[in-house]
Amino acid sequence: MTEPAVGPRIDMEILVSLSKRRGFVFQSSEIYGGLGGFWDYGPLGVELRNNVKRAWWKAAVQERDDIVGLDASILMNPRVWVASGHVDTFADPMVDCRECKKRFRADDLEGHVAASAHGHAAEGGVARCPECGGELTEPRMFNLMFKTFVGPVEEQASTVYLRPETAQGMFVNFDNVLTSTRRKLPFGIAQIGKAFRNEITPGNFIFRDREFEQMEIEYFVKPGTDEEWHQHWVEARRNWYLGLGIRQENLRVRRLEKEELAHYAKDTYEVEYLFPMGWSELEGIANRTDFDLRRHAEFSGRQLTYYDEESGEHIVPYVIEPSAGVDRCFLAVLFDGYREETVRGEKRVLLRLHPSLAPVKAAVLPLSRHESLVPPARKVWDLLRPHWMTQYDDSQSIGRRYRRQDEVGTPYCVTVDFDTLEDQAVTIRERDSMDQVRVPIAGLVEALRERLAGV
Ligand code: GAP
Repeated sequence: MTEPAVGPRIDMEILVSLSKRRGFVFQSSEIYGGLGGFWDYGPLGVELRNNVKRAWWKAAVQERDDIVGLDASILMNPRVWVASGHVDTFADPMVDCRECKKRFRADDLEGHVAASAHGHAAEGGVARCPECGGELTEPRMFNLMFKTFVGPVEEQASTVYLRPETAQGMFVNFDNVLTSTRRKLPFGIAQIGKAFRNEITPGNFIFRDREFEQMEIEYFVKPGTDEEWHQHWVEARRNWYLGLGIRQENLRVRRLEKEELAHYAKDTYEVEYLFPMGWSELEGIANRTDFDLRRHAEFSGRQLTYYDEESGEHIVPYVIEPSAGVDRCFLAVLFDGYREETVRGEKRVLLRLHPSLAPVKAAVLPLSRHESLVPPARKVWDLLRPHWMTQYDDSQSIGRRYRRQDEVGTPYCVTVDFDTLEDQAVTIRERDSMDQVRVPIAGLVEALRERLAGV
């Protein structure tokens, strides 16, 4: 987060504005002034988000023969979070300004060593308030888990936590999955779901939220093979981002320093993206050892082991955990795809999204609203809707409509013109090259299918 960005970067504000204007992301409950760290995904945003999750699920579950899925509940028995260490250590050091009353994470301020929500205490000298120069309080540890109550009585005994990671749902179901699927090591459990953290300073648009979504794999391996599997997953996860079209120069893998490691991790790599605020984490890939299974066995009194036929012993598997954020991946994809070009003296804004991620795969555009063009154009739209997310747009000039689709990353526009009435053919226009090709309506679905290659 601290290294300066290199090369020509676009401003976060440009994407915030595009996201609102075109219906990707809105501030949550905006008409009431919003709520810090919460966001709503609009009509195009929900499509892009679903596509990110679909691409992840395909790579993590569908295409592998060693991983199964899970969808665990958000609220769990509170002892889960005692066993996992979150009740004791999932805290960030917080300081307040005595003058202007603003609140900061101590590790964001100069004069303090790094500290994280995984329990590293803040130390170091007194910093001054970066807003007004006022005196700051001593750091206090602030637990990031949101609390609520189950049942009608609001008391300590009925307190539960909104999960701060989806991971624990997979650890506590280790034995259920093992016995119901008869898996052999190595095998994994994958899950996509909401997580909640009462971040002291949410910010950078959707980068640091209080409600966000994670895509996590818990990959169980024999102790002793964990380091090799760790390397496998670092490479596999890096390649996943590259496969989605993220530019290599904007992606890097960084091994965490010992003092940056979470309480459960023996070793962790981060996949980072070069955002405008600098290199920032998209995903953490941790070697969690047997920490979680041992702790849950201890706290629940249940045996959480695997019977290894080779050695004839019950063993506690080690865990490699690739843990990615949907919202951060979404933001990286927007940044990476954003381009401004000049075409015939005019500015064109373009989102070069991978076709599998594009919210709309094809837009049907009649040349004009002329009464003879609308029925065939709507018929073409009817033809495409069962296959892909599509749009129909007949307002303003065709040039402006192309630009509107470019700006939201639609890979193909299908234009219905007066020749269509004669030759029963339409024009496919490609987003990046702007090349146009004429195809018969009877072969349109096939022509798009070929171009969208399995999307
Ligand atoms: N189970 C491990 C775990 O939760 P983490 O590094 O704290 O590890 C994993 O979180 C990923 O979740 C991060 O790499 C990031 O993509 C996402 N994430 C974490 N906190 C977030 C926040 N406040 N807002 C958005 N995404 C967040």
